[in-house]
Amino acid sequence: MIKLYDVSKTYAKSSVKAVDSLTLEIKAGEIFGFLGPNGAGKSTTIKMITGILTPDSGTIQIDGVNIAENPIGAKSVIGFVPDDHDVYETLKGIEYLNFIGTMYGVKSATLKQKIEEYASLFDMTDVLPNMISSYSHGMKQKLSVIAALVHEPKVWILDEPLTGLDPQSAYQLKQLMRKHADMGNTVFFSSHVIDVVEKVCDRIGIINHGKLVAVDTLENIRADDKVSLESLFLTITSDGEGK
Ligand SMILES: Nc1ncnc2c1ncn2[C@@H]1O[C@H](COP(=O)(O)OP(=O)(O)O)[C@@H](O)[C@H]1O
Ligand SMILES: [Mg+2]
Repeated sequence: MIKLYDVSKTYAKSSVKAVDSLTLEIKAGEIFGFLGPNGAGKSTTIKMITGILTPDSGTIQIDGVNIAENPIGAKSVIGFVPDDHDVYETLKGIEYLNFIGTMYGVKSATLKQKIEEYASLFDMTDVLPNMISSYSHGMKQKLSVIAALVHEPKVWILDEPLTGLDPQSAYQLKQLMRKHADMGNTVFFSSHVIDVVEKVCDRIGIINHGKLVAVDTLENIRADDKVSLESLFLTITSDGEGK
């Protein structure tokens, strides 16, 4: 479960709110798609949910834990796939996964089994002994996904996870999101591409200029407006790239 209440953030030296009074609740068992054009405030929101940035105001709860009051407690249930797939270049893939798994306190037998399972799924088994610096962008992305999952996070957060992923891996990732949510976990991911959101989400939220402009199930959004999600998205964000 993720709860945001009246969360705002303005970057230093900026006069506009990157995130503006955002209130949102995402339940366990749900895949939530956070949709918005570039610069809308998706990554800023995600960085606050994952504890990388501190909100100027408002509160955030992860699985019932207030992240400001108990940051380690909140972060321990989160698995995060950042948009830049920033992984340690100087390690081997397997070393990175072992390091992350150990940090989260995963028992070694479980960790080994999880790594094998996910590496096989994403066709990464053969390259795990290699240095991360030799990996392609897509391979780093897949490593980042595996690293986020080894501790079976109750809350899985992904920032633009499907950008630049090959079709096979994108398919596997979408299947995994479904599976993870069906096990009673929360999945939250951002995208500026409608097609992806439309296919995998239970609910979507549309953000523009830091404000949440629509939140609902896909069925309701479509039924209310009698238009496709695509035209709704284009109407809401018709002023271009969000700023
Ligand atoms: N580190 C930063 N410093 C200053 N402004 C930033 C920074 N990161 C993002 N912004 C601004 O905050 C707004 C929201 O950005 P962001 O959250 O990255 O949007 P999105 O992920 O939806 O593309 C944009 O106007 C962006 O220019
Ligand atoms: Mg972003």
